[in-house]
Amino acid sequence: MSEFHALVPAAGFGARMGNGLPKQYLPLAGKPMVFHALDTLCSCPEISTVFVVLAPEDTLFHTYDWSRFGDKLQPLFCGGATRAESVANGLLVSELEPDDWVLVHDAARPCLTQAHLAKLIGELRDDEVGGILAVPVADTLKRADTGQRISCTEERAGLWQAQTPQMFRAGLLAQALQQCSHVTDEASAIEALGLRPKLVLSESSNFKVTYPQDLLLAELLLNKNR
Ligand code: C5P
Repeated sequence: MSEFHALVPAAGFGARMGNGLPKQYLPLAGKPMVFHALDTLCSCPEISTVFVVLAPEDTLFHTYDWSRFGDKLQPLFCGGATRAESVANGLLVSELEPDDWVLVHDAARPCLTQAHLAKLIGELRDDEVGGILAVPVADTLKRADTGQRISCTEERAGLWQAQTPQMFRAGLLAQALQQCSHVTDEASAIEALGLRPKLVLSESSNFKVTYPQDLLLAELLLNKNR
């Protein structure tokens, strides 16, 4: 029977945070940011292994205590120049069975809950292709010109914001990323193969911490969920 595994790319620098510390290690509710997603994924009974993909030159990971996660947490020091490269390298090194499911999740989405995971796995475990957590776009969308003025209003109907985890068969995802490496999420690589990943309705609380002001909101949500 195919197993479920998680893979967390955490080899980026987080340039938009404007902080010397890589984003995944910024302090958040008393822990490095990446701890929260790893905690949720390691606590999910359906998931067998949680791989965290780190930069080869990462010296910070081993300065924290990860012992509570035991062998379920596997650090892989094989991150690449882009997120897609980090995921592709992680898939190669982890040697998963091609039919195993892999849930790829951003280190920078710390507010993921067990309910989100249960919904994603429940809706996709019998799916042919796989899919992603996502939310329909709520705001009106404006396209900017080069002077930061509105050049037009974009049609919002049918648009969704992609989140993570993104859940695909390990073999299919590895093949997709090999053929299409200039993507910002896994689903884009699967789409490029001509397949149509499913959109699984999520919540805006599973947002990506990108700017400094996002830290406060993430901390409030984490403290509330505890
Ligand atoms: O920068 P951004 O927020 O889009 O990064 C999304 C995720 O991809 C983060 O968890 C980041 O650490 C990871 N990443 C990576 N390797 C890179 C760039 C980003 O693992 N070279």
